[in-house]
Amino acid sequence: MNKSEKINIGIFGFGNMGRSIFSVLTKNKKADSQKIFICSLDVRRVSGAICVASVGELLNSCDIVFLCIKPQNFYNLSPKDSKIIRKKSVIIISIMAGVTIANIKRILPSKKIIRTMPNLALQAQGAVTGWHTIKNNFSKKELRQVTNILNSFGLTIFTKNEDMLNAITAISGSGPAYVFLFINALAKAAESLGFSSKEARQIAMQTVKGSFDYAQQADDSSLDILIKKVTSKKGTTEAALKKLNVSNFYRKWQQVARKAYERAKELSNYDIK
Ligand SMILES: NC(=O)c1ccc[n+]([C@@H]2O[C@H](COP(=O)([O-])OP(=O)(O)OC[C@H]3O[C@@H](n4cnc5c(N)ncnc54)[C@H](OP(=O)(O)O)[C@@H]3O)[C@@H](O)[C@H]2O)c1
Repeated sequence: MNKSEKINIGIFGFGNMGRSIFSVLTKNKKADSQKIFICSLDVRRVSGAICVASVGELLNSCDIVFLCIKPQNFYNLSPKDSKIIRKKSVIIISIMAGVTIANIKRILPSKKIIRTMPNLALQAQGAVTGWHTIKNNFSKKELRQVTNILNSFGLTIFTKNEDMLNAITAISGSGPAYVFLFINALAKAAESLGFSSKEARQIAMQTVKGSFDYAQQADDSSLDILIKKVTSKKGTTEAALKKLNVSNFYRKWQQVARKAYERAKELSNYDIK
């Protein structure tokens, strides 16, 4: 973001994700170019931010507002909250899972709504954030401001339509749980072979980290080639992968992702009465 551009950023809901966004924004804050406003139940003071009492005050004080409350709390906002936007140019960036742009608009009638799906790795600035909006509703400057902020979270993917946000939810939104599950499985296997639980966790974590770092350096090699590199004929890895049944494993993961995608779609089908 250009240093001369003064911008007020609001965070509505200061739980796990709201705090993570605040932490990334404050880490990347350039001099006095940004002011951060927060509105959350029971949050009165946050060092480095201005706390306001109502979402109306937040929307009218800020240029960009992140919606970081739970979907059920959003649908329960009182009808008077829906008439609160006086500042017509306010950009609303929702991170709420499964709440469509159309439903956000019904409650907060703004033309400038962006729907995103970051993941838990946001805190470490290593998130994958899918996002979608109708770009024609924004000026070039506004889109630049938004992409600068989202890029500071990690990798960003602009999806070709809103439904693809359900697909990104299935892969990178739920993804940290899949990765933790794999690390846990490897650690439990290490324990079953005689390592202490502390050693097992260290071995599993470092194996994942080291393999990731190696794969990133070898970015011209496909993952299939990398797997072959470790799998020598009649060796230990070949025996292990035979037991795993690799083609079944790939098929299973496609079914897993499809299930998560369908659930994300179901959650997006909420009808506001
Ligand atoms: N966690 C993830 O990995 C993840 C990933 C991607 C997207 N998301 C989305 O991020 C959003 C937030 O998730 P989270 O895990 O951060 O939830 P959370 O920890 O429960 O945070 C929500 C915060 O909003 C506050 N709040 C609720 N209703 C409010 C209202 N009417 N006015 C002001 N503040 C209100 C809550 O206060 P109280 O605690 O006092 O109720 C809480 O501090 C959800 O929509 C979720 O779908 C989460």
